[in-house]
Amino acid sequence: MRNIHGRPAQRAAMLMAFSILLLCGTTIMTEAQTRIKKRPFGQTADGTPVELYTLTNARGMEAQIMTYGGIVVSLKVPDRNRGLTDVVLGYDTLDGYLKDNGPYFGAIIGRYGNRIAKGKFSLNGVEYTLAKNNGENHLHGGLKGFDKVVWKATPVNGRGIRSLRLNYTSKDGEEGYPGNLSVTVTYTLTDNNELRIDYAATTDKDTVLNLTHHSYFNLAGAGAGDILGHEVYINADRFTPVADSGAIPTGELRSVTGTPMDFTKPTAVGARINQTDEQLTFGRGYDHNWVLNKKGVRGPTLAARVRDPKTGRVMEVYTTEPGVQFYTGNFLDGTITGKGGMVYNQRYGLCLETQHFPDSPNQPGFPSTVLKPGQKYTQTTIYRFSARQVQR
Ligand code: GLA
Repeated sequence: MRNIHGRPAQRAAMLMAFSILLLCGTTIMTEAQTRIKKRPFGQTADGTPVELYTLTNARGMEAQIMTYGGIVVSLKVPDRNRGLTDVVLGYDTLDGYLKDNGPYFGAIIGRYGNRIAKGKFSLNGVEYTLAKNNGENHLHGGLKGFDKVVWKATPVNGRGIRSLRLNYTSKDGEEGYPGNLSVTVTYTLTDNNELRIDYAATTDKDTVLNLTHHSYFNLAGAGAGDILGHEVYINADRFTPVADSGAIPTGELRSVTGTPMDFTKPTAVGARINQTDEQLTFGRGYDHNWVLNKKGVRGPTLAARVRDPKTGRVMEVYTTEPGVQFYTGNFLDGTITGKGGMVYNQRYGLCLETQHFPDSPNQPGFPSTVLKPGQKYTQTTIYRFSARQVQR
């Protein structure tokens, strides 16, 4: 019988392909196996205990998250042959994270992700002074940002739901920011092989806020080499150029067309990274904010897609945020020995930090990052993993 939706042979092939896909996605873990597990992971310098939580989904994907910095310590995702590979950079022990002060591996970033020029901003006529911890500028919340505090964790186990809710109250004046800020970050591992991050916050005084997540991904596996062969698509026609190597945006929203910043077609990270280009020189590679194409949609929309041609592994990033910082691990320099004794050289991982634009408190033309009492800050970002060809 001829099928009106297509030729029978084609249709049969499609059905078979679809069934194979379904089989690959078959539930392999029991409800008991996917219960969230908790174990001690050491203590901070002041003796505060730190716990490590393990979330496992029905397909065996696993995320390990610790209460220090809300850091994603490992993220094991399935590949084409059903093996699991840890795709995020980091350390084996808490000690590694405590000693380290540079890369922000896997952490929650706040209060303000990315840079604030000269560590100053004004709100309601009052000037606030923040730490200059990145040359002349303020970076990632200051000397002790949300990546260096211990969060209170509540595991949420439900039918098919595995979430870890993390809470932190940042006091008025902490790191120079105004307002008592109550923050909840919920990590959820879905059966669709997604790590979903929901952020929420309220304040009792006008303040500024820009939360993000700082995992370094290498889809071939943490420490497997550089990410120059990864193909990247970014759903953005514009980016925010920076003024100099201090990486503060000029305020312009510049078209990516004809520049090495154009990732509107999937392109290998290494294809243009060494071109002579002022912006690439300032960033020592890619370390810029892209202005996501949004078209007024309120829920999370596709920000970026990364594919490792060697393993066939794909990561898609969806977000409610207006921007994404695409950072190619330019400051990794081989001085860090990470998980399993692997040395992390330059460009061994890439970050896709969904965010409001850098330096927004000093840039009237950028979307506002002001949060007022009575308002609720929310942000959702989803990192979705698969291991098949994705057509655009
Ligand atoms: C962010 C910044 C980079 C760098 C890393 C941490 O992604 O944009 O310049 O500071 O954090 O090394």
